[in-house]
Amino acid sequence: MRIIKTESYDAASRACANLIMAQIVTKPDCVLGLATGSTPIGTYENLVRMYKDGDISFAAVNSVNLDEYKGLSPENDQSYRYFMNDHLFSHVDIDIKKTNVPNGLEPDANKACEDYEEIIKKLGGIDLQLLGLGPNGHIGFNEPCDEFVKKTHCVDLTQSTIEANSRFFASMDEVPKQAYTMGIQTIMNARKVVLIATGKNKAETVKKAFFGPITPSVPASILQLHPDCTVVLDADAASLV
Ligand code: GLP
Repeated sequence: MRIIKTESYDAASRACANLIMAQIVTKPDCVLGLATGSTPIGTYENLVRMYKDGDISFAAVNSVNLDEYKGLSPENDQSYRYFMNDHLFSHVDIDIKKTNVPNGLEPDANKACEDYEEIIKKLGGIDLQLLGLGPNGHIGFNEPCDEFVKKTHCVDLTQSTIEANSRFFASMDEVPKQAYTMGIQTIMNARKVVLIATGKNKAETVKKAFFGPITPSVPASILQLHPDCTVVLDADAASLV
C-alpha cells in the first residue's frame, strides 16, 4: 500500500486525477470503477479540465460505479447516477452507454446485484477502482459488520451513514435506508485501487483503516491486503499517521 500525503484538498484531488489520467493514457479502453461522495468532486473537476485541455479522452472508457441508493431513479438529484452525470459524464466525451451504475429502481435485490456482477465480469474486470472513505470506515456502502460481504449486495445503511448522508437531503426521512453496493471481493478484484480521503473528520478512520488491524468492523482495512493500492490524503486526513 502506498500512502501519498499532500498539502490540501486541491493537491489531493490533482494527485488522484493524475493517477486516473495515467490509467487512461496507458489503456484508453480501460474499465474505471468510480465513486461518489463529496471527496472525489475535486478529482472529477480535474479530470474534466484534463479532457478540455486535450490531455485525455474518455471515448473508449467503460465505467462501473460502486453503489446506488435502492429506490432512487436516475432523475432524482440525490441518486448516484445523477451525481455522475452532473460531475463527470456530461462534461467529457464518455459514451453514456458505456457507463454503469447499479439499478436503484430494480426492486428485486438479487437480480439487481447479480446483473451488476455480470456487467463487471463481461467487461473483463475493473482496471482502476476509485474509492472514498466513509466516516465509519465504509467503502462503497460496505458498512462495518461481522464479516466481509464478497459480492455486490443490498445493504441496510447504518444509522451513522444515514445521518452523515442526510446533509444532501431535505430531511432525514428522505434518506434511503438501503443501497446496492459492490462487495469487498468485487472491489479487491480491481487491478488497481486509489482511495482518496481528506479532512479532519477522516483522520481517526484513516489511522484505524490503514495502520490498524484488518477487520470487517473497519471495512477499508482490507485494502492493506490489496497488491496495488494507493491512498491519497490531505494534511488533515493524514494528521494522525
Ligand atoms: C457515501 C458513499 C461512499 C463515500 C462516502 C463518503 O456513503 N457511498 O462511496 O466514500 O459517502 O462520502 P464523503 O466523501 O462525502 O465523505
